[in-house]
Amino acid sequence: MADTQKATNITWHEGDITRADRERVNGHRSAVIWYTGLSASGKSTLAHGVQNALFERGFRSYVLDGDNIRHGLNKDLGFSPEDREENIRRIGEVAKLFTDAGVIAMTAFISPYRGDRDKARALCPESFIEVYVKCDLAVCEERDPKGLYKKARAGLVPEFTGISAPYEEPENAELVVNTSHESLDESVARVLSYLESRGIIPEA
Ligand code: ADX
Repeated sequence: MADTQKATNITWHEGDITRADRERVNGHRSAVIWYTGLSASGKSTLAHGVQNALFERGFRSYVLDGDNIRHGLNKDLGFSPEDREENIRRIGEVAKLFTDAGVIAMTAFISPYRGDRDKARALCPESFIEVYVKCDLAVCEERDPKGLYKKARAGLVPEFTGISAPYEEPENAELVVNTSHESLDESVARVLSYLESRGIIPEA
């Protein structure tokens, strides 16, 4: 298992500058905003919309995007349940590093398994915000920006989420946005006001 400790003779080194120091200088708290939902549900679009809004206000954030990360850090992983678990485990760890760096990390991964998301949450429980980007499968299939649903229906993409692999809906997400019904601006505004209500960012 990838999450067992292999190396020995390693010592944790605590830096002089703490997360709280960085948050004070930044003028906002750090957090993990974990977007989850079907492919083409709008996770990346929403994450980037929120990032633009945060940037406008001078806040530090960064989007970790499934398709992009799979070109680099996670290029060795496919879409079996085990590979998806490892994908999410690594991203959970990376997101945790970002919070330590004082940044609002936003992750846009299908992350279809509840157990994997819960493990990511357990890495930074006090600052983990799960956002369920809810969108009807029919709408995702109609959008199909990469043509993958069509291919999956034709049996050309194995283990495709929503078609031939499961998506486990969040049961206790901090926020649910329904991109079949809401506009992008509405969804962005809802995330920002949630961040304000939690005291992550100051009131506008
Ligand atoms: S996750 O399930 O491990 O969280 P991730 O978000 O990294 O998935 O990657 C999903 C993206 O990979 C999709 O948006 C799609 O573009 C592409 N993809 C390719 N094959 C699959 C598949 N079998 N299931 C889901 N997405 C796939």
